[in-house]
Amino acid sequence: MTIEDATATDLPAILAIYNDAVEHTTAIWNETLVDLDNRQTWLAERNAAGFPVLVAHDAAGEVLGYASYGTWRSIEGFRHTVEHSLYVRSDQRGQGLGPLLMQALIDRAKAAGLHVMVAAIEAQNSASIRLHERLGFTISGQMSQVGRKFDRWLDLTFMQLILE
Ligand SMILES: CC(C)(COP(=O)(O)OP(=O)(O)OC[C@H]1O[C@@H](n2cnc3c(N)ncnc32)[C@H](O)[C@@H]1OP(=O)(O)O)[C@@H](O)C(=O)NCCC(=O)NCCS
Repeated sequence: MTIEDATATDLPAILAIYNDAVEHTTAIWNETLVDLDNRQTWLAERNAAGFPVLVAHDAAGEVLGYASYGTWRSIEGFRHTVEHSLYVRSDQRGQGLGPLLMQALIDRAKAAGLHVMVAAIEAQNSASIRLHERLGFTISGQMSQVGRKFDRWLDLTFMQLILE
């Protein structure tokens, strides 16, 4: 397994992983599937802003998961803080891939001189909360019933890592 910067070749697989999360998880609070154009625009915007999109490939070049960060809040004073996202393909979960992608992303954030990484996690996503805790993230707040998906209210847990 290797972790590399995403290219256009990875986008169909990234699209499939993203849409699977839209359909089946509360990792992303959309219920509308996106198309390849949407992911092309997203990758172009991340690249233009100098933000990484990292993909994990297996030996055959298949995309197993991806991680990225972007602007947390667009007001100037928040420019040293980023918010990230992390997706592991559904048939690849539970094998330690998420932590490897996150560690690579943390290393990139440190190299970029960023100060804080923020994770906004659906409060019942205990696998993600535990993963972040093991990487040194701490819970900094929780907001009740700020989202809705699958006919229920969703609580949002904020976690953060101060990068030194
Ligand atoms: C959350 C996620 C990134 C974790 O990545 P991962 O590579 O599965 O991470 P790990 O291998 O460390 O496993 C995490 C936990 O899931 C458990 N797990 C095992 N098999 C699993 C499976 N098939 N599906 C989901 N979780 C599984 C692991 O045992 C582990 O539990 P633990 O915390 O008690 O040790 C991944 O499950 C995922 O992409 N989920 C959907 C999107 C998502 O929630 N992203 C995070 C949004 S903030």
